[in-house]
Amino acid sequence: MIAANSPHLPDGDSPDLVLVPATPQERIAAIKLNSAAWKGPLDIDAYIAREDHLHNHQLVRDGMTCWILVDGSEPEGDRTILSSCETYPKKALLAYQGQVEEVSTHGIGSVYSRPEFRGKGYAKRMMEELGKKLETWKMEKQPRGKTSFTILFSDIGKKFYAQFGWRPYAAAHMVLPARAMEDTDQVSESNGTSNRGKTRDLLAEDVERTMCHPNIIADLRNELQRASSKSQTAQVAILPDYDHYSWHWAREEFFVQELYPDRSPPLIKGAGDDDAHVYCTWNRNFGDTPENSVLYILRWVYDKPQSAEEEQSLIQAMVDILRRAQHEAKDWGLATVEFWNPDPILQKAVQTLDSDVQVEHREKSSIPSLRWTGDKHGLGQEVEWVLNEKYAWC
Ligand SMILES: CC(C)(COP(=O)(O)OP(=O)(O)OC[C@H]1O[C@@H](n2cnc3c(N)ncnc32)[C@H](O)[C@@H]1OP(=O)(O)O)[C@@H](O)C(=O)NCCC(=O)NCCS
Repeated sequence: MIAANSPHLPDGDSPDLVLVPATPQERIAAIKLNSAAWKGPLDIDAYIAREDHLHNHQLVRDGMTCWILVDGSEPEGDRTILSSCETYPKKALLAYQGQVEEVSTHGIGSVYSRPEFRGKGYAKRMMEELGKKLETWKMEKQPRGKTSFTILFSDIGKKFYAQFGWRPYAAAHMVLPARAMEDTDQVSESNGTSNRGKTRDLLAEDVERTMCHPNIIADLRNELQRASSKSQTAQVAILPDYDHYSWHWAREEFFVQELYPDRSPPLIKGAGDDDAHVYCTWNRNFGDTPENSVLYILRWVYDKPQSAEEEQSLIQAMVDILRRAQHEAKDWGLATVEFWNPDPILQKAVQTLDSDVQVEHREKSSIPSLRWTGDKHGLGQEVEWVLNEKYAWC
């Protein structure tokens, strides 16, 4: 093991460095190191327990890998972690020239180098190696034995990961303040958007019934099929399935158990309007302080309106759902409600609710980034990321 302050650290481009899956003990050591950046309000033991809890979730347990960059000449069990990250298996839909297939991919997270080792090229070397490894990692059952793309969400801007092929995609969002029910009632009186009383809360099973129904996935497949048959650009979407939502909920449930032991678990997982066929699911993200705690809307589902009248009812239903989300955020002491890459209809709903709120474009945090290797498999040079919403984050 190399001492953290050793003058004999290897160079980032040393041929001795290798990227390997961590042993269970090394994984815990890597989590302890990165706790400095990501444990938030949890203590270290609770942070490790949270990571184990998520590690065992059905979305990721068959294939999640903790990677460590080490000097290959050090013996297993006594290796110095120079840099580390995790990869999460994900299912996705891939469409090209009118053919849609379900494929496997990986999401990458927790890219970390300890402060004493920074600036020596270790994270760069890790990403360079990782890009190559992930093309075939756990892809034995894939049609080509390889994945065509992998994703990550950069918190360090748009340049670092782009060097290794993870190109930045749309990183827009809208933010509404949390509001108590009385306050939203006053706003709705003043701007003439009174609540129609048709919004209902969604429990986990309601989200499954309304947002994960096979018809929703079938509609998505049809949409990808149509779009890809009209263009040379491949289309990909991370599968918006129940496991994805429930992985996000597992985070919030763990936090509530640890930080608010007197509160009941957060059972309300979203809101919807059955008449207007619009639904959304959310999770509560507890940061270091209430100011950076957010209710994230993970995904919206609704039918495209066929007339101006339908559009108006949809927008009104969305306004009521957004208000409901604002109450939920307030109730849990979160500062804001946020959602990613809103389409023009959702933007209109937000403007109806609060004309001061504009679309914001992130330059540094949570930049959706995708590394495309489909060109090597005859799937074209370009790829569009469909459903670039928060549910896909890892
Ligand atoms: C980001 C991090 C992994 C880089 O590790 P590292 O081993 O020092 O990285 P390398 O030495 O290989 O590369 C350094 C490059 O990263 C860039 N970089 C490091 N931190 C950065 C930041 N916060 N924003 C933008 N770029 C950053 C540096 O500018 C440098 O680029 P240059 O060589 O063109 O000057 C490390 O600083 C870290 O662990 N930070 C805390 C956790 C974190 O933010 N992780 C990223 C999550 S997406």
